[in-house]
Amino acid sequence: MKISVIGTGYLGATHAACLAELGHDVVGLDTDPLKIESLAAGELPFFEPGLAELLNRHVGTGRLRFTTSYEEVGAWAEVHFLGVGTPQRQGEGSADTSFVEAAVRSLAETITRDALIVGKSTVPVGTTQRLREVLRRHQDPSVEIGLAWNPEFLREGFAVQDTLHPDRIVVGVEDAAHERTLKAVYSAAEEQGVPFIVTDFETAELVKVAANAFLATKISFINALSEITETVGGDIQTLAAGLGLDERIGPKFLRAGLGFGGGCLPKDIRALQARASELGHERSMRFLSEVEDINLRRRERAVFLATAMLGELRGKKVAALGAAFKPNSDDVRDSPALDVAVRLFDAGAEVAVYDPKANFNAARRFPRLRYEESLAAAVADADLILVLTEWDEFKSMSPESLALLTPARKIVDARNVFSGDRWNSAGWEFAALGRKHAPVFDYASLGV
Ligand code: UDX
Repeated sequence: MKISVIGTGYLGATHAACLAELGHDVVGLDTDPLKIESLAAGELPFFEPGLAELLNRHVGTGRLRFTTSYEEVGAWAEVHFLGVGTPQRQGEGSADTSFVEAAVRSLAETITRDALIVGKSTVPVGTTQRLREVLRRHQDPSVEIGLAWNPEFLREGFAVQDTLHPDRIVVGVEDAAHERTLKAVYSAAEEQGVPFIVTDFETAELVKVAANAFLATKISFINALSEITETVGGDIQTLAAGLGLDERIGPKFLRAGLGFGGGCLPKDIRALQARASELGHERSMRFLSEVEDINLRRRERAVFLATAMLGELRGKKVAALGAAFKPNSDDVRDSPALDVAVRLFDAGAEVAVYDPKANFNAARRFPRLRYEESLAAAVADADLILVLTEWDEFKSMSPESLALLTPARKIVDARNVFSGDRWNSAGWEFAALGRKHAPVFDYASLGV
């Protein structure tokens, strides 16, 4: 099929390359000529395992091209996917849908053949109905342009795998013909037996935000319990294992630690609260503000642990291992790791940051911190080491191997990746969040 993907950021570039892999003819469109130039040359402007190979392969086979011209895709494609961003509005919790609206308007003005526009971006419920109005006002009435919503559930770090082998495909449609078109686009997934949920626009829009709100809630739930285990001397990881074995609960997203970040979970829970308030249901999503509070408390507690281990932060040298919001990503948007590094710096510590992939993005955002090109350089003169993102490179450290690189004998395991007993018996002072290796503080009186 002839398919265009509008917006070639993280979501759009992945979707375009994966559609080409599925055998379709794909054109990626972006209004940023620099982005288009680099993608057309097979260069990915961000890090995602396996995606650069896919991009190169299909730029090579000719199944994947890039353009800045709406006229070109409007005359050519039978299906247009929307992968443009819906960032948080400045100073507000709500999502800014102006890029989606602009894309639909540009398509409406340039589509000259019957076609289907399929939204993939995460949008506030009700957006698709509004877009239908935009279409109606701007399209050529002699062509038939359909609209559908098909949310994307991919995770950074697993984007290719999640797109080619999704858990489910959800489509919001108002016409059986559009359902058939989408089943043809995703025929490979259908053959693999991937569940295909067909519903209305509103439910399709909501499934996506509900999934992210639920995942965020699950993480904050286990992190809230880790505040309790910490105080009573229990162990949050064993508690999570005991919980997760209940099939109704499941073991995933119960990893306690520094909490969630990234471009989706934090933004989406704020946008859902904002939309619920607009709809007169402020109370139904109010618990999400508690989910966010619990999440931010993790960062305060990590800084507090560091302070307690060093006596005071001023003048102390601290190595922050990790800046990305999670491993296998170079994304530092709303990153708990980078936030902790900045908080330590603001409290007077000298902070050396090392992340295997995210140094560049982190330095662009917070140029005041010191960035090192290797783990060895970051820890070389440290008084304290904090593991803030659970990269394999950090998880594979042992007390012995690390001791060869640094004078420090103090470590904070903010992602719960190590056995505290092992580090203690090797002579290290070890602290973690939510485990018996967490020093017990009177957090209530400290206001944390
Ligand atoms: C998320 C959703 O998983 C995905 O379906 C959606 O399409 C986009 O948002 P992503 O932001 O890539 O994906 O990351 P995810 O793997 O969900 O992790 C989110 C955050 O939660 C990370 O900061 C991670 O470190 C944290 N996390 C995850 C935990 O703290 N504990 C866990 O048990 C799991």
